[in-house]
Amino acid sequence: MRALAAGLLLLPVLAACGDDHLTRYPQTTYAPKTEMAQIQIDLFNLTLYLGAAVGLITFALLGYIMWKFRYRPEAPEPQQIHGNTTLEVAWTLFPALIVAVIAVFTVEAIFATQPEPPANALTVRVIGKQWWWEFQYPVNGGRDTIITANEIHVPVNQPVQLLLETDNVLHSFWVPQMGGKRDLITNRVNRLIFTPTEPGVYLGQCAEFCGDSHALMKMRLIAHTPEGFQAWLANEAQPALPVTDTTSAVAAGQKLVTQGVCAGCHVIKGTPMVGRTGPDLTHFGRRRTLAAGIVDNNAENLASWIRNAPAMKPGSKMPQLGGDVPNALSEDQIQYIVAYLQSLQ
Ligand code: CUA
Repeated sequence: MRALAAGLLLLPVLAACGDDHLTRYPQTTYAPKTEMAQIQIDLFNLTLYLGAAVGLITFALLGYIMWKFRYRPEAPEPQQIHGNTTLEVAWTLFPALIVAVIAVFTVEAIFATQPEPPANALTVRVIGKQWWWEFQYPVNGGRDTIITANEIHVPVNQPVQLLLETDNVLHSFWVPQMGGKRDLITNRVNRLIFTPTEPGVYLGQCAEFCGDSHALMKMRLIAHTPEGFQAWLANEAQPALPVTDTTSAVAAGQKLVTQGVCAGCHVIKGTPMVGRTGPDLTHFGRRRTLAAGIVDNNAENLASWIRNAPAMKPGSKMPQLGGDVPNALSEDQIQYIVAYLQSLQ
């Protein structure tokens, strides 16, 4: 009886799982926004409810038996059922049957979530880095590539095919509302296909331990209307605009970034920068967040990041550039760099 009461107490908790939960738990699997995520949550719920039913029945019987056959000095010894074939067969068959039911739905879900890429799929290459995400969009029939980082933009109602790769250790792509995780494995291209159904910003996270800052390897998936996506893509295809006012802080920043220490590791299209270690910064100013989604992209956070990236993200390949290091950037220089990077729309 007590087990039943505990089970009933749990019901409101389960019922509360829905879109309202998103504010507190943005990386929830309980608000699926693709068919793939729906299939997976349905399978999870089936297993959960079957397991809960078995648990409730077991504990109810256990409670009943413990009460009925509790010790009483005058009571006779209960009937012994050791070696009862009917019972033995029943409690072997019944769990096997439940497992068989789960297996049928699981195999069905495995096939349903690994389809062949549809002809109209948008292909995005995803490359896991330590500790950030690179997203590459092949355009013009594969002759050109648009590269961005940490914020993957996709249209709704069109299948998205992700080709998952890593050039270092293992990572795992996971945007819970889009569907389950899939690993990025060395020397292999894994595929993940889903169709977002609703525009919005969906939080994601690397889900495979990959070193010091694994927990700080976040991302955002931004699902646009088809027109919004095309507009985003068209803008991303453009090189950075040249700075016209040569006396501005932006111009000073441009000089520092494109001719200084940043150029060794970053690309800004339209400038001589060709470094490929860090993220492509061509349209950096449009990103909502920085350092793989760990903080908002604003002047203050960006200055902190440039000043001392490893302090925000342990193990970061981006070195400390300000403060107490040799050849440190001055605070003025950091502010110029911030102004230039923010101007990259
Ligand atoms: Cu990448 Cu964990």
